[in-house]
Amino acid sequence: MTQTLRPRRSCLAVPGSNPRFLEKAKGLDADQVFLDLEDAVAPMAKPGARKNIVAALTEGGWGNKLRVVRVNDWATQWTYRDVIEIVEGAGADLDAIMLPKVQSAEHVAALDTLLTQIEKTIGYEVGSIRIEAQIENALGLINVDAIATASPRVETIIFGPADFMASINMKTLVVGEQPPGYDVGDAYHYILMRILMAARAYGKQAIDGPYLQIRDLDGFRRVAERSAALGFDGKWVLHPDQVAAANEVFSPRQDDYDHAENILDAYDWFTSEAGGEKGSAMLGDEMIDEASRKMALVVAGKGRAAGMQRTEPWTPPESG
Ligand code: GLV
Ligand code: MG
Repeated sequence: MTQTLRPRRSCLAVPGSNPRFLEKAKGLDADQVFLDLEDAVAPMAKPGARKNIVAALTEGGWGNKLRVVRVNDWATQWTYRDVIEIVEGAGADLDAIMLPKVQSAEHVAALDTLLTQIEKTIGYEVGSIRIEAQIENALGLINVDAIATASPRVETIIFGPADFMASINMKTLVVGEQPPGYDVGDAYHYILMRILMAARAYGKQAIDGPYLQIRDLDGFRRVAERSAALGFDGKWVLHPDQVAAANEVFSPRQDDYDHAENILDAYDWFTSEAGGEKGSAMLGDEMIDEASRKMALVVAGKGRAAGMQRTEPWTPPESG
């Protein structure tokens, strides 16, 4: 199911209060942009930011990028106006609303209801605006399964590390890096895996959050490689320099992509009559079977979605 969703290797954060950044984001190579009304926008600037975002979306020029707006969370006084102003003003030019600090299925259900009413009023297809749910505290993580299944609109589950670290009293100020004193593993492993399990169980995309040291590209890559290795689909980027790194890290490596396509072709052939109707067979030095095909489908699917081309086609062994 995840394979049918559009790629979100790089999800670019753009503060809605800055028209220059909004304009610049249109030309960047991110798979997704999210125009922010929440924590990157000061309270007094929120009404103006809504107007900037509606203008930027309706003007167009976003290419193939997924266009998402992050509204304020339900504990504030801003959420309903954010949603109404953005969706009424630019719903035809919008793919999803990102809801931060989601703690329960009810938070998602409330947004779903509001979106349905606006879609009916304006005449958009009901359900066309999707939802991205940010998990940013302990309660959200505990309820992540119910959150993922609270509405068919939910497409992604996103880890919000900065708010999450604050909410659990993690003893550090550096987002994404290990807290000093914890030297026995990865302090984020459980959280990332919990989110990933919910995403995979319910066919959603799992997205890793920001890395705030924007001048440290090596650090960004190191942290991104970890969530990519587990199976995450993408990561937030806060700066143009992080975009290419995220696109690369969350795509398969060329030799893995080639190998995956070879496994698919080879297994297809070996299971056919011409190939001897074998359920397991040797591909070079490697034994492949149905489970190999499933792993290869994941890697090949990500590569195809990223527009990768295989280096050379696989050919069946000479008969005899
Ligand atoms: C993102 O919203 C975060 O809190 O890390
Ligand atoms: Mg946050």
